[in-house]
Amino acid sequence: MERQEYFLNRHTVRSYSDAAISDDILARMIEAASHAPNTGNMQWYSVIVTKDAGQKKRLAPAHFNQPTVESAAAVLTFCIDLSRFEKWCRASDAEPGFENFQSFIAAMIDTSLFAQQFCTVAEMNGYGTCYLGTTTYNAPQIAEVLKLPHRVVPVTTVTVGIPANDMQEGGTWRLPVEAIMHSEAYTEPSEAQIKEWYAPLEHDSQHFVDENDKSSLAQVFTDVRYPRASAEYFSQVYHNLLKENGF
Ligand SMILES: Cc1cc2nc3c(=O)[nH]c(=O)nc-3n(C[C@H](O)[C@H](O)[C@H](O)COP(=O)(O)O)c2cc1C
Repeated sequence: MERQEYFLNRHTVRSYSDAAISDDILARMIEAASHAPNTGNMQWYSVIVTKDAGQKKRLAPAHFNQPTVESAAAVLTFCIDLSRFEKWCRASDAEPGFENFQSFIAAMIDTSLFAQQFCTVAEMNGYGTCYLGTTTYNAPQIAEVLKLPHRVVPVTTVTVGIPANDMQEGGTWRLPVEAIMHSEAYTEPSEAQIKEWYAPLEHDSQHFVDENDKSSLAQVFTDVRYPRASAEYFSQVYHNLLKENGF
């Protein structure tokens, strides 16, 4: 497939066939993913692979029982990992100074790029993938199930497997490129322009508005899917875990 065509057509896959995925294939895809750019080539990340049915069952509640967890051939939890690097520093008579927000952000970016490169490699090899944002909601439970040591914190999860149905053609809707691309300096769009950019999404998602008894799609996002109270509660949970881990 042409590269541009792959990127325009790729989409999240949430249900998978029963086909297993070998450790060897996973290791090769993870190795390729690890060649993503990262801060100073320090590789402040690890990925925990879960294939065991019992272990997937233990992870599922932390992901609010999204069915993709138990359906997947493998569940990959991508974590910030300062533990390995700091041990290497101390074993080499070097005192690390990474217990701060700046280092957390660097590790967060690097872990995300590693995860995304894994998704691209997996999709290019015929696998379907789905991120689980619930990882930063219930990170303490995930850390416990996966026995994460101090300085190792979950960032995101990717489920992977052979798609249950033939991959349909066509990517998911995106804003037109002029909405996200600014030349030389930021240009503020008008409210009317913004409304026009979101109109196709509103048109295709009217059923969500009706089902939730709302008057706009934006209200489905703000009141139903990502309400303030929930975001504030889970922010506190994740913030506490980061503090416990020295960030
Ligand atoms: C950080 C992150 C968290 C996500 N969390 C979830 C999730 O919890 N459940 C889910 O079904 N999809 C999740 N997704 C997938 C998005 O819904 C999906 O990428 C988006 O709707 C765009 O669709 P596409 O990937 O098909 O282009 C997540 C994606 C990202 C990047």
